[in-house]
Amino acid sequence: MVKTTVEVPSLSKVYEASFHIGAAVNVRTIESQKDLLRKHFNSITAENDMKFIEIQPVEGQFTFEKADQLAAFAKENGMKMRGHTLVWHNQTPEWVFEGADRETLLQRMKEHITAVMNRYKGTIFCWDVVNEAVTDEGPELLRSTKWLEIIGEDYIEKAFEFAHEADPDALLFYNDYNESNPEKREKIYKLVKSLVDKGVPIHGVGLQAHWNLVNPRLEDIRIAIERYASLGLKLHLTELDVSVFNFEDKRTDLTEPTHKMLDLQAERYQQIFQLLREYRNHITSVTFWGAADDYTWLSDFPVKGRKNWPFLFDENHQAKESFWKVVQY
Ligand code: GLA
Repeated sequence: MVKTTVEVPSLSKVYEASFHIGAAVNVRTIESQKDLLRKHFNSITAENDMKFIEIQPVEGQFTFEKADQLAAFAKENGMKMRGHTLVWHNQTPEWVFEGADRETLLQRMKEHITAVMNRYKGTIFCWDVVNEAVTDEGPELLRSTKWLEIIGEDYIEKAFEFAHEADPDALLFYNDYNESNPEKREKIYKLVKSLVDKGVPIHGVGLQAHWNLVNPRLEDIRIAIERYASLGLKLHLTELDVSVFNFEDKRTDLTEPTHKMLDLQAERYQQIFQLLREYRNHITSVTFWGAADDYTWLSDFPVKGRKNWPFLFDENHQAKESFWKVVQY
C-alpha cells in the first residue's frame, strides 16, 4: 500500500533526551492551539499573564485568574511550567514605586514574590526572577530603572533571596535579550558571575533568543552558550523565535513569507538546533515565544501590524520545512 500521509513526529518526544520544548501561551492560545501544544510541547510559559501588572495591578489585590488557567492547562497535560517574570522594569504598575523608599520597595518586592511563588509551588519548576536588568550599550552595567534607583544595585540579589525563601525547590534564573551580542554578553556574564561569587541563590541563565535569519551569528551564539555555561549554571532558551525579517528590513507589503525566507529559516533552525544539541549537557529547556505562525508578538514588533512567520509551524499549525530540519538529524 502506498503511504500517502507523512507521520509528523512529536517535537518534544524527539528532544526528550536532550531538553524540554516549551511554548509561550495565553488564555486564548491554550484553546486555539490546544492540539498542537499537546502534541509537540512539554513545557509552557505565560506570555504575559504572570507579569507584575497582570497579577497585582493594585496593591494587595491579586488577580490570578488567567495565570491559574494556564497553570491548570500545564497540570492537566503533564507539562512543565516556567514562571515569567517577577522583577522587571516593564509591565510593572506605577503604584509599586509610588512614594517608596528602599525599605518600602523591598517589602513590596518581597510580598509580591512570596505571594506569586507560593501560589504556583509544585507547578512552576523555575522562575525568571529578574528580567533584563543589564544595559545594551554604554559603560553602565545595570539598566537605569526604578528598582535600581530606589533600592540600589543589590535589588537583584534581594529578588533572588526572596524567591529562594518563598520556594527553595524552584530553579531561579536571570533572563535577558541580546544575550549573544559580545558586548552585552560580557555584561550579563559579569552580573551573573558577581551573583554566583556572592553565593546568591541563582541556578540558571535564560537566553531569550529573539533572533532572525542572520543575526546573531551562529558563532556568537556558541560563544555566549560557552561563556554562560562556564559559570556552572543551567541554560534555558526562554523566548526563541526566528523572524523572517532582518532588523533593518521594514517592508510591510508581504502577505505570506517568500520561498527564500522559508528556505533560509529552515537552514537557520537546522543550524541552531544542531548547536543546541551539542550543548545539551548545559541546556535543559528550549522555549519558543509562541507555538505557530498564527500568533506571534512579532506581528507588532518592530513594525506595528506587520505579519511575521517565526516558528516551526505555519498559520494552520502544519509542520514547516523548518520543523523537518529540526526533527530529522
Ligand atoms: C521580552 C519579555 C517578554 C515579552 C517579550 C515581547 O522579551 O521578556 O516577556 O514581553 O519581550 O513579547
